[in-house]
Amino acid sequence: MKLEPEQEAVLRGESGKALSLAMKTLVEYGKAFGAVRLVPIKSGHLAGTFGVFLYRSYYNILQQLVAEGVRVKVLTTLNPRPGHDFNLINQLVMGGQRRLDGYLEALGVTPNYSCVCYEDANMPELGDQLAWAESSAVQFANSVLGARTNRNSILIDVCSAVTGLTPEFGYLLDENRRGRLLVKLKVDRMDASALGYIIGQKAVNRVPVIEHYDFNRIELKNMGGAMAAAGGVAMFHIEGLTPECPDLKSVFNGEPEDTITITQEDLDAIRTGRSDDAAMVVFGCPQMTYGETVELAENFVNKRVNRPTYFYLIPEAKIRFMATDLYNNVIEAGVKILDHCPIAGLMVRRESKKVLTPSGKCYYYLHGTDYGTVDDCLRTCGVIP
Ligand code: F3S
Repeated sequence: MKLEPEQEAVLRGESGKALSLAMKTLVEYGKAFGAVRLVPIKSGHLAGTFGVFLYRSYYNILQQLVAEGVRVKVLTTLNPRPGHDFNLINQLVMGGQRRLDGYLEALGVTPNYSCVCYEDANMPELGDQLAWAESSAVQFANSVLGARTNRNSILIDVCSAVTGLTPEFGYLLDENRRGRLLVKLKVDRMDASALGYIIGQKAVNRVPVIEHYDFNRIELKNMGGAMAAAGGVAMFHIEGLTPECPDLKSVFNGEPEDTITITQEDLDAIRTGRSDDAAMVVFGCPQMTYGETVELAENFVNKRVNRPTYFYLIPEAKIRFMATDLYNNVIEAGVKILDHCPIAGLMVRRESKKVLTPSGKCYYYLHGTDYGTVDDCLRTCGVIP
């Protein structure tokens, strides 16, 4: 790999041992993927925000950076914290939270604590180079915003944030952003989250191109989250909608490798429908935006839920939502409004506590979870017939 003179100096340790190790890590990571240089990034986003007590090596590395006075070189946002709602075990497992939060603060990150960082705290533009972790955010940045980032892991994301650099390979390069799989739709009732889940399973690491459909921004978020989880997909295109896909001809390098058709029957097949044995209903993974919450909340006015029901919001959206009358309506209906990540808390729930969710990502990660459309979930918690 060819480094700039100032990068060589950091590697030699002229800015301290901890930064030298961060640089060395990026160089070795880049070499493993065939990168020939490091490029500057506009921003970072870190996924290592769960204070799992076993992450000792992670904490030791952060401690070393902090001890040498290292701070992030670019705007760097954070994924959500884990929740503590469900049981004591969860609180014990996350016993490193305070220590972790302290290190991250000392590094100078932006404490937005949201996987939907691109809605408020970290908003890249077309063509920006990034080094983000968090698969759903990576996918939104690549696909919907036209920024460029690989799916970085925990710690690689930190190395990039403190050096302001990332190795140039993968989704930073034009040739890897081209479509490989064409997805045709035969769907009457769109369910973007289910669609993302199915596409993820079929595309697996390839870039799918979906024929034109007017998805809104919320649908793109929820579809992307499911697709990135179910198939490791870092980028998708939508014909005539996403910025790098004005038409099918320009996004494929010749013919697609494969063409698949997803039908209404395919979408319906992953639904449980109304789920009377669900112990709880969980909305918001990726976390809900303010607009998404308002739309959902209208269904709860003058109603009462018949089982525990949770909304997980972007923290900034929660603050805005709490200032509305709708917030009081939803609380009176019995809904809990939270602003962390549902997954950590729910993973250590008792297996008998079955979850119903309209999130394809939550469905993918949580063993024993049922999937339903938003309406299935509203029916299950008893607020619509
Ligand atoms: Fe976000 Fe947690 Fe879901 S980080 S995408 S709410 S798993």
